[in-house]
Amino acid sequence: MSWHRIDAPIGLASGEKHLTVVGGREILVCRTGENYYAIAGRCTHSAWPLVDEPIEGTEIVCTLHGARFDLRDGCPTAGPASKPLATYVIERRDDALYVSL
Ligand code: FES
Repeated sequence: MSWHRIDAPIGLASGEKHLTVVGGREILVCRTGENYYAIAGRCTHSAWPLVDEPIEGTEIVCTLHGARFDLRDGCPTAGPASKPLATYVIERRDDALYVSL
């Protein structure tokens, strides 16, 4: 496991997202309330990019076909997706965000 400083701003507002690439992986940083989450950037159903998709509570919605995923563990909470999104540990340290791969 290695930590990577990422370019996502710590000043993201609740419900905002920021797409970044770390080690060749698209990682979507999401903020809800005081919490940050780091998930794969594309839906596991048909690889639709999630960067512009809405966050509702602790779920992100893929509006292409309606799948929903829990930001906390990546698990689908509504189909048609059946596979979880990859999730990454994310931490705020002083003025920057770090993810663990
Ligand atoms: S691509 Fe996301 S639900 Fe189909």
